[in-house]
Amino acid sequence: MKIVAIVGSLRKDSYNLKIAKFVKDRYKDKLEIEILLPDLPIFNEDIEKDPPVEVINFKDKIKKAEGVLIVSPEYNHSIPGGLKNALDWCSRVDRVLAKKPVFIVGASNGNVGTARSQMDLRTVLNSPGLNSYVLPANLVLIPNVQNLFNESGELIDERTINYLDKVVDNFIDWRMKIS
Ligand SMILES: Cc1cc2nc3c(=O)[nH]c(=O)nc-3n(C[C@H](O)[C@H](O)[C@H](O)COP(=O)(O)O)c2cc1C
Repeated sequence: MKIVAIVGSLRKDSYNLKIAKFVKDRYKDKLEIEILLPDLPIFNEDIEKDPPVEVINFKDKIKKAEGVLIVSPEYNHSIPGGLKNALDWCSRVDRVLAKKPVFIVGASNGNVGTARSQMDLRTVLNSPGLNSYVLPANLVLIPNVQNLFNESGELIDERTINYLDKVVDNFIDWRMKIS
């Protein structure tokens, strides 16, 4: 199954990016994942029908994907601005996330592991402009993420890995059922 993974952090050493790369590698026999960063110009309705090339390419990759994984930190108790901006682009004109199966993973260095931002993210993905199909339940909240990697930057936390195994299988089963 071809999917894109949108990572909510643009930081070079982002833990969420590392987790997206981990998922890409660990489940390569089940999912063919392309990682996308939402590094796009700010949405402007005046140019939504003739957007910058980065936006065209970003939306095109989502359009062609059979599913989307969003791996994102929480910023100030909500969705990082760059990710929200990308979702705003996706909510207009060709609306590439409409009816697109999505699942969500989030890691933070706090204790609640992106719980607040994931609730907001689900609300946004359920809006009429986006209208995505979001995998119910399966909340992948990864708190204190800075403690879950070894010195080589590899995710080594068994509990997180076991839960990711389950959620990826749940996403694949559910994706088949709803299509
Ligand atoms: C602007 C900003 C706001 C943040 N707000 C939160 C927050 O609300 N909750 C939280 O748990 N962590 C928050 N953090 C800390 C992030 O969890 C931490 O920086 C994390 O490593 C970011 O993800 P990344 O490693 O993928 O870049 C914030 C970090 C930044 C830079």
